[in-house]
Amino acid sequence: MIPSKYQHKVATAEEAVKVIKSGDNVYLHANSGFPLALVEAMCNRYKELHNVNVYHLTTFHKARYAEPDMAGHFNHVALFIAGNVRKAVNEGRADFVPVFLSEIENLFITRRIDLDVAMVHLSPPDEHGFCSYGVSNDISKTAAENSKVIIAQINPRMPRVYGDNFIHISKLDYIVEVDLPLDEVPMVDDNITESEKALYSKIASYISEMVEDGSTMQMGIGAIPDAVLNFLKDKKDLGIHTEMFSDGLIGLIESGVVNCEKKTFLPGKIVASFVIATKKCFDFMDNNPFIEFRPSRFVNDPFNIAKNDKMISINSSLQIDFTGQACSDSIGHKFYSGFGGQVDFIRGASRSKGGKAILALPATAKNGQISRIVHTLNPGAGVTTSKADIHYVATEYGVADLHGKTIRQRVKAMIDIAHPNFKEELEKKAFELKYLW
Ligand code: COA
Repeated sequence: MIPSKYQHKVATAEEAVKVIKSGDNVYLHANSGFPLALVEAMCNRYKELHNVNVYHLTTFHKARYAEPDMAGHFNHVALFIAGNVRKAVNEGRADFVPVFLSEIENLFITRRIDLDVAMVHLSPPDEHGFCSYGVSNDISKTAAENSKVIIAQINPRMPRVYGDNFIHISKLDYIVEVDLPLDEVPMVDDNITESEKALYSKIASYISEMVEDGSTMQMGIGAIPDAVLNFLKDKKDLGIHTEMFSDGLIGLIESGVVNCEKKTFLPGKIVASFVIATKKCFDFMDNNPFIEFRPSRFVNDPFNIAKNDKMISINSSLQIDFTGQACSDSIGHKFYSGFGGQVDFIRGASRSKGGKAILALPATAKNGQISRIVHTLNPGAGVTTSKADIHYVATEYGVADLHGKTIRQRVKAMIDIAHPNFKEELEKKAFELKYLW
């Protein structure tokens, strides 16, 4: 029964991508779900195609469709800017949509972004004909469900991850069988110097003091959230409700620190949406009933996040002014990343009973030459997290608690956690602005 439904859809990548027409909106599976064979075949057709809009979140593979020689053939539209498309966005060869991760899927559902073709990367079908979206549910499942055509790259190396994370083969239009390794991303910790490690550890140690036993954790992207995992080894009964799952969580699960038993929303389950990690983690997730992947519009919905008591969100930022406005997606006018789930989780954790929303960043950048705590955000540095949303800010000099505090109290608290070399200048400016008197 299932093989016949399956077999007549099987095509080569070259045959399948012929369905793409000039002017189409094409979605690519995100993160380590990048459908490499399909993307290669699509890019090889570039001479026949014009103005194909290519949408995706973070991916790690070379983005050939965003290379200068692809101009006019493909237009990349980033829903989150990763390193592989940053240059293209900042050189004006690709575009960017600033949007909360929890709200992207609604753009597909309402056809504000009207998807023609979704190219996804799935596990082989089970005996009932269901394929798993594996390592990357995020916005990809909803993108496929709201696309006119679905081309699936089916790979025995894609883990079968549980949750609201499946599609039946009857819904697929083309099936391309591959046997390819998934894109792996090591922990930031594996690639940094000893002094950076010491810096991140200092910040992580302050954060870990704020984590009570029985808390539910979200860890965002970057070196600091990764470092925090190393400081949670002595905690008890932690739960996980996070958009991103990573290698660092495996040790905490295996040692029993993370057991999800005290979670007040979906207890007994790790709830996540995608993974940025290595094969060790992909193998760990395969057929693992402890892990439940769901779409970002569920996982990142601030109202769902807030159903977890003692919800702790840990995210990072690039620059924060001393009133509490945080820019996390650009360095001045240069776009760096995106909103992702930062505001979703800050709002969810802030509403959670006993919750704490933490933004953590080193006090300086560029070998101590630039303060990341500033009196005024750089021109072009837009606000990701507003001063009404911000709660806790951590640097290597401590933690500032800003929620419900006056401008004067905030300025003092932020100067307290700035690097000593910049405190005098910040204070001088605060007096000039009449924020301190
Ligand atoms: N001025 C100039 N350069 C700065 C800077 C500043 N104020 N702040 C940082 N930089 C530079 C750093 O020196 C570094 O440069 P390098 O790559 O040449 O070393 C680069 O910008 C990245 O900074 P870093 O602090 O190392 O970033 P990170 O990898 O720890 O990630 C964010 C931090 C903020 C970029 C990342 O967390 C993010 O994109 N957040 C927004 C989305 C989000 O929070 N989503 C929710 C969780 S999934």
